[in-house]
Amino acid sequence: MPPSPRPANLAIDSTRLMSRLAALGRVGALPGGGVCRLALTDTDRQGRDRVVGWMRDLGLAVTVDRIGNVFGLRPGAEEGPPVVIGSHIDTVATGGLYDGALGVLAGLEVVNVLNDAAIRTRRPVAVAFFTNEEGARFAPDMMGSGVLSGHLDLAEMLSSVGIDGATLGDDLARIGYAGETPVGAIAAHCYLELHIEQGPVLDAEGIAIGAVTGVQGICWTEYRFKGQTNHAGTTPMTMRRDAGYAAARLAVEARRVALETGGAQVATVGRFGVTPGLTNVVPGEALLTTDLRNTDGAVLAAADARLQAFAREVAAAEGVALETRALARFDPVAFDPALVGLVEETARGLGHSVRRMPSGAGHDAQMFAPHCPSAMIFVPSKGGISHNITEHTDPAQIAAGAGVLLRVALEKAGVESDE
Ligand code: GLV
Ligand code: MN
Ligand code: MN
Repeated sequence: MPPSPRPANLAIDSTRLMSRLAALGRVGALPGGGVCRLALTDTDRQGRDRVVGWMRDLGLAVTVDRIGNVFGLRPGAEEGPPVVIGSHIDTVATGGLYDGALGVLAGLEVVNVLNDAAIRTRRPVAVAFFTNEEGARFAPDMMGSGVLSGHLDLAEMLSSVGIDGATLGDDLARIGYAGETPVGAIAAHCYLELHIEQGPVLDAEGIAIGAVTGVQGICWTEYRFKGQTNHAGTTPMTMRRDAGYAAARLAVEARRVALETGGAQVATVGRFGVTPGLTNVVPGEALLTTDLRNTDGAVLAAADARLQAFAREVAAAEGVALETRALARFDPVAFDPALVGLVEETARGLGHSVRRMPSGAGHDAQMFAPHCPSAMIFVPSKGGISHNITEHTDPAQIAAGAGVLLRVALEKAGVESDE
């Protein structure tokens, strides 16, 4: 038998990683490219089954917890908390092939490399994917990792109702992923997540690797205005209770508040609907959501409070009722400085250009960060496009990120023969 490669010579197999990414991308594939695997749908189940199949093929011990998070464990020479490599495999309805899937399948690639080289790590290594990271069907986002971290309540999340009226707990059971393992407090030695940047910075600057310093805060609020459905031709402008008008004013105000707040503040109205939605009927109901984000938690809370106050004023002026619901509230987090430094040095040592940067998107790593040393590795997104079927990262860029992940994971897990 040829001797096993020394850990320093290990390399990821880019063709194998790309082929798993393509295979998962065929589950829920959309015409024209991209993928739709909304959380806990049948396509999510098919994607989960495929990844679990790969975990088993690689000899990982698979466990599923009560919120449907899946862990595949590779034992180490010692007992104790594993180095967790994770992300998500659910997508938005207009998803690309790499958002989330990359972090999970790169984790499997790390395990594949370790298996092929018969490397025994000192600590266990786990590859994990977390339920409903996207929050596109059921709010909030980062749900599985949020329950795992104790930030979200399990019973409350199981009873959450999706945009299509489904209940999360029912669908989790229906697709066979209501696991038996209790959702414990996080027991991870450290947490690593490789992800596409989903923004324009690395691509614009021609930099290969982002060493992510933290994730900005996220605040989602749902507004439901209730006025009076009425005739569009006969109802004088002064006698309307137009829920659609109130919602439209709030949508415009969201952009104004973001621009006036300035700095890192962003605001998005991603859901907007009026009922009954007919040309000649004054809308009796309107629903909209705001997605506000900022690296400064206090500024973020102030922007949300300002919009809520505006919504109340508009509702009163138009004579419509208003109900608001907090959908997501996540504080900004900073990643572990030593681990961020390790990502940066490792990337540099492998000959890649690297920069430090915050994350604009939410990630499961955000839920782990308060509990164990956590870090993320970003690779470029072409044109900064994501949550879009044309999302693209070149295979060589993906390989660079996965190579950094491999080396950082090895460093944190330790190699028995190195001791
Ligand atoms: C998750 O993708 C989010 O940032 O909304
Ligand atoms: Mn993601
Ligand atoms: Mn996403």
